[in-house]
Amino acid sequence: MAAVYLDHAATTPIDPAVAEVMQAALRLANPGSPHAAGREASAHVEAARAAVAARVGARADELIWTSGATEADNLAILGTQSLSDPGHLVCARTEHKAVLDPVRQLERAGWRVSWLKPGPDAVVDAAAVLDAVRPDTRLVTVMHVNNETGAVQDIARIGQGLADHPALFHVDAAQSLAWLPIDVTAMGIDLLALSAHKCHGPTGIGALVIRRGRARVRPLLFGGGQERGLRPGTLAAHQILGFAKAVERLDADPSAYERVAALRERLWEGLRKVGGVIRNGHPEMIAPHLLNVTFADVHGESLVFSLPELLLSQGSACTAGGDEASYVLRALGRSDAEARASLRLSLGRGTTAADVEVAIEQICGAVRRLRSVAPLAVETGRVA
Ligand SMILES: Cc1ncc(COP(=O)(O)O)c(C=O)c1O
Repeated sequence: MAAVYLDHAATTPIDPAVAEVMQAALRLANPGSPHAAGREASAHVEAARAAVAARVGARADELIWTSGATEADNLAILGTQSLSDPGHLVCARTEHKAVLDPVRQLERAGWRVSWLKPGPDAVVDAAAVLDAVRPDTRLVTVMHVNNETGAVQDIARIGQGLADHPALFHVDAAQSLAWLPIDVTAMGIDLLALSAHKCHGPTGIGALVIRRGRARVRPLLFGGGQERGLRPGTLAAHQILGFAKAVERLDADPSAYERVAALRERLWEGLRKVGGVIRNGHPEMIAPHLLNVTFADVHGESLVFSLPELLLSQGSACTAGGDEASYVLRALGRSDAEARASLRLSLGRGTTAADVEVAIEQICGAVRRLRSVAPLAVETGRVA
């Protein structure tokens, strides 16, 4: 039996139409070259820029290409704020490491950080974000969709609340681009980080939207004039065109949101029958592709090892491999043992009803088995 892929939050399978565009684009010249072939490549890159920017309500000249959301987050934070001029910023504890680590760099340099905890439902209260803002706040950073719980933050409310404040509003939208509408103008976003490989595009390409007249960014890399000097280096035309094609293809499957959300609910209904299961995250303010569950009285690593036919993870791929229990689940109040006894199941446009049934059967079977052979292996709090 083929393994069932339930790790779309880590990366999505490339859309064949994207791969086709990329294959052809591999023959393009350097978009920076002045000759006809360079100009042709540049025209393709600029059309892609306009398309990806339009998808999030931005102008083409507000978007620069990066290697992914990690680089875009770093540039948004360390390219707009100075280590040598400390101020105040607001950041949620449940942000991706691509945000947490640059923020911690600022903190080590003397910045004051208001670290916000999510509620038990994984949502960071928009009012609490705005309450934390002070006259000297220079940056507010809140992700759109959390990559472990799927929690959706009320970005528009935060953006509107910051409209008359000079603080920049940065949003990591790596997980939301594939699923939710984004409009930087309507949502009051100054800096928006995007990634192609979360929406069936290639890895290694992303973008940072920098709103005109709001944010001034200094480069973190040096050595060329590409991207207005903000992100030097030869543009990877094949990846850029692949990103634009992936964005275009999101509209080719208009029923995807409802279909995937329904499959996710079926998965939850199936898993909860095993008992002693808790759902980590708000049941409604959640992106359609994510389900995060904790199983009481189960040793987390044994659970994952018992599921070789399911391709899934316990948390962010960026922290996988480390021994650390998920800091996102810890912030929701889960104990270390509970966080380790949790699965992040992420569905995608290609997930089928049969995949979900296989996942339910295998996970419930493994949980029952582990509970019967080692009932007290881990002392977790009993969960409903
Ligand atoms: C919310 C979030 N931000 C940032 C990233 C990093 O994106 P990339 O792999 O494009 O650098 C990811 C992906 O793991 C993510 O889920």
